[in-house]
Amino acid sequence: MIPLDRRTRAMLPDFVRLFGGEPTYLAIAPGRVNLIGEHTDYNEGFVLPAALDRDVRVLFRPRRDRRVRLYALEFDNLVDFHLDRLEYDGQIFWSNYARGVAWALEQRGLRLRGVEGVVSGNVPRGSGLSSSAALEVACAKAFLTAADALLAVPGPELARAAQQAENEFVGVRCGIMDPFISVLGQAGHGLLIDCRSLDYRRVPFPSEAVLVIGNTKVSRSLAASAYNERRAQCEEGVRRLRSRLPHIRSLRDVSLQVLEAHRDLLPEVVYRRCRHVVTENARVLETVRAMERQDLEEMGRLMDASHASLRDDYQVSSQALDAMVEAMRREAGCHGARLTGAGFGGCAVALVQAGREKEVQESIYRHYSRRMRIWPEVYITAPSQGARVLPLWEGGGLPRSRRGGARSG
Ligand code: GLA
Repeated sequence: MIPLDRRTRAMLPDFVRLFGGEPTYLAIAPGRVNLIGEHTDYNEGFVLPAALDRDVRVLFRPRRDRRVRLYALEFDNLVDFHLDRLEYDGQIFWSNYARGVAWALEQRGLRLRGVEGVVSGNVPRGSGLSSSAALEVACAKAFLTAADALLAVPGPELARAAQQAENEFVGVRCGIMDPFISVLGQAGHGLLIDCRSLDYRRVPFPSEAVLVIGNTKVSRSLAASAYNERRAQCEEGVRRLRSRLPHIRSLRDVSLQVLEAHRDLLPEVVYRRCRHVVTENARVLETVRAMERQDLEEMGRLMDASHASLRDDYQVSSQALDAMVEAMRREAGCHGARLTGAGFGGCAVALVQAGREKEVQESIYRHYSRRMRIWPEVYITAPSQGARVLPLWEGGGLPRSRRGGARSG
């Protein structure tokens, strides 16, 4: 077997204990941090996320039949299901992400094969860093490998399948951003995604910057209901604007000028929700231009403006997120900071001058904890690699995995 890193090695004893023999592949899918472009994906707008250096991984071996056996190391439970009977599991919630992507891939005409494996992750759960998208994408990669169909599903389509799993199988109405960046992220780059066409472009991340992520450790209890409410308000805005502007399909088609000209059609709160989306789309494109000329100051200014818009117009910030962003900005090395993800808790992200990250980290520990009386977590990171599958044997490929798959565990 090829040399394994420490985290993967720690998964091996459970594999051997539960399934016997040895695994043949490792599928890895990262979490994400969104640099800018919040609540724009479901409005067919632009987003600019980056893949994290934290991931969910599946150490696995294909099976000959259609049985799936997956053991979640952190939860210490084993699920066992059959690809012919993919049903929602009310007991072991995490398994619905695995079941859901299998279902969504088969919806695309693929016939999958079973796998057996150990699942483990270090993306903080429930913190707005997309641990669920990472789990979906890692499982999808494992299923595709076992079916010898890795190349049959292009990246954007794989992201769509993961989103469909979450929307229709798990029952969460999220957008396309999280699985998309998990699949297509690249080290040292942000990913500009057009959430209408699913075109994307990798944008080099400035070499003299790092990202400091502050986890408020406040769970996002309101997030699901408020998220759906915001989506409905955006849809209402589009409906009302269409009474005069029938060519509009989504807020993506609306400029600030147009919005202002037809403000009379919108209730105040709907107008403000729309104003956030419309200005945020523009900020994403401006951030890309600033990033291309390595203008950290301008990128930071746009991140600050994004946070203000999310706080005041979209109203998805919280006391903890505001406190986190303020603690980050106290240090001169911080160019800008904003909440990242859906909001209401979870994490904020700061753009920081390389070499100054420890000062920002210290400021978070000192000022955030004093103000909120909560001990936060801080992750220092740079844009990392997207999802991948590693064969674990020299010259590894399907013949070897087929032999491995002969076991019936
Ligand atoms: C969550 C969703 C994403 C996106 C963000 C807000 O993370 O999963 O699709 O809508 O919220 O930008």
